[in-house]
Amino acid sequence: MGVFLLDKPLFLHILTQLRNRETDQIMFRKGMVRLGRLIGYDIANHLDFEITEIITPLGVSAKGVLIRDMDNIVIVNILRAATPLVEGLLKAFPAAKQGVIAASRREVQGSVPPTQMEVDITYSKLPKVNKEDIVIIADPMIATASTMMKALRTVSLLNPKRVIIASLIVSEYGITRIINEYPNIDIFTVSIDPQLNNNGYIVPGLGDAGDRSFG
Ligand code: URA
Repeated sequence: MGVFLLDKPLFLHILTQLRNRETDQIMFRKGMVRLGRLIGYDIANHLDFEITEIITPLGVSAKGVLIRDMDNIVIVNILRAATPLVEGLLKAFPAAKQGVIAASRREVQGSVPPTQMEVDITYSKLPKVNKEDIVIIADPMIATASTMMKALRTVSLLNPKRVIIASLIVSEYGITRIINEYPNIDIFTVSIDPQLNNNGYIVPGLGDAGDRSFG
């Protein structure tokens, strides 16, 4: 359990393309899908497995590995920015069930720092979650973590076996907030960025992931 920082060169190579403001919409979305697939494979490598034995076409037995939880995955798409990330995750977990959560910032009077802005879940549609399921919540950019906190509360009420966050960039503020309140979940991310600006963007970040993917 904990934070899995996916900082191997291929992850960072694709993230660098995403951070680059010269990267156009198509290449941006493709990069998100590629990272989703790679993050999915990394998550799969951290699921429980058992040693099994099968018979090959040659009629001999061979020892192998079985990850039973591959068939117990639920992927939750935090709309809309996570959609290309989910497309990639589904390549790693083709049998996954899927849910969606949409959130929006609540209007507040006066100037309020982004870390204190309230977020409401405006739409949520999740499949039936069983006690043996592993829920992967996908959100490419976790800034203040306000949306993620709400998503975690919603998902935790369903009592899955394990909750995993799949992300590209998490702010230091956001990751601290999540770990403090949910110490038992796992966070897979490619980068932890140091700052948030006054508009709630992660710095250096990659801009607005939704706008850059969808135009
Ligand atoms: N969401 C984004 O898309 N980018 C940020 O920097 C923060 C939240």
